[in-house]
Amino acid sequence: MSAARSIAVLGGTGPEGFGLSLRWAQAGETVIIGSRDTKRAQDAAEKIKQRVGASANISGKENIAACDSADLIVFTIPFEGHATLLKQIKPAIRPNSIVIDATVPLAASVGGRATRTLGVWQGSAAQQAAELVPKGVSVVAAFQNLGAELLNAEGPVDCDVIVCGDDPNANPVARSLATKIPGVRAIDGGKLENARILEQITALLIGLNIRHKGHSGIRISGLPPSAYETQ
Ligand SMILES: NC(=O)c1ccc[n+]([C@@H]2O[C@H](COP(=O)([O-])OP(=O)(O)OC[C@H]3O[C@@H](n4cnc5c(N)ncnc54)[C@H](OP(=O)(O)O)[C@@H]3O)[C@@H](O)[C@H]2O)c1
Repeated sequence: MSAARSIAVLGGTGPEGFGLSLRWAQAGETVIIGSRDTKRAQDAAEKIKQRVGASANISGKENIAACDSADLIVFTIPFEGHATLLKQIKPAIRPNSIVIDATVPLAASVGGRATRTLGVWQGSAAQQAAELVPKGVSVVAAFQNLGAELLNAEGPVDCDVIVCGDDPNANPVARSLATKIPGVRAIDGGKLENARILEQITALLIGLNIRHKGHSGIRISGLPPSAYETQ
């Protein structure tokens, strides 16, 4: 993938997608905020421009238009809209692009608790995405455990990002994107089927945040230095 890649962040008007977009814009990446509403997307892009500076390569588009011009598509929307949005954008996903899924199927999506996850037939939200993207498009699971509060604060984040996926060419791309966020160590987490564990860890982190009134993240210890990718 070329250095001039563009990243569409669907749901980039919400705290998680906004925080990722902010960090990538700060790192000089070309970011397109996606939304169901063009104006909301443009307003979010403008807010990021104000924080990063006029040189930021950021714009806002309706979700399908955002995918039309993107090499990487990042999913940061609530689980209740996940399958519907994937079906809507399917014709707009470019061949050979990569979908990075940060969605967590929280029970809150159906009126339950944010400290519990839903059972997803395919095993995880990311595996559901893999079933719904066009042939030849890879899905990678990442960023489920990196909270919006950390992303939207100033300075480095205290969190590792575990990246799972079945395409050995797509995983390094997602890891390189993760390392653009100061403080992140990206770790290869193996196959996409492990996404179910990443998604469940988020429910645990939410519970810890409620119990201890904090903004928790994860750090993995004990691996050889080569396992931890940083910029
Ligand atoms: N918040 C966190 O700390 C965090 C951390 C890790 C992972 N995540 C995961 O990342 C995802 C986004 O989290 P969030 O807290 O940013 O969520 P959010 O604020 O509830 O939603 C993000 C955006 O998704 C769009 N959206 C809402 N409902 C939708 C639907 N039914 N269909 C399509 N788009 C819809 C909205 O944008 P428009 O109205 O502009 O379209 C909204 O601004 C979730 O799956 C969450 O579990 C969140």
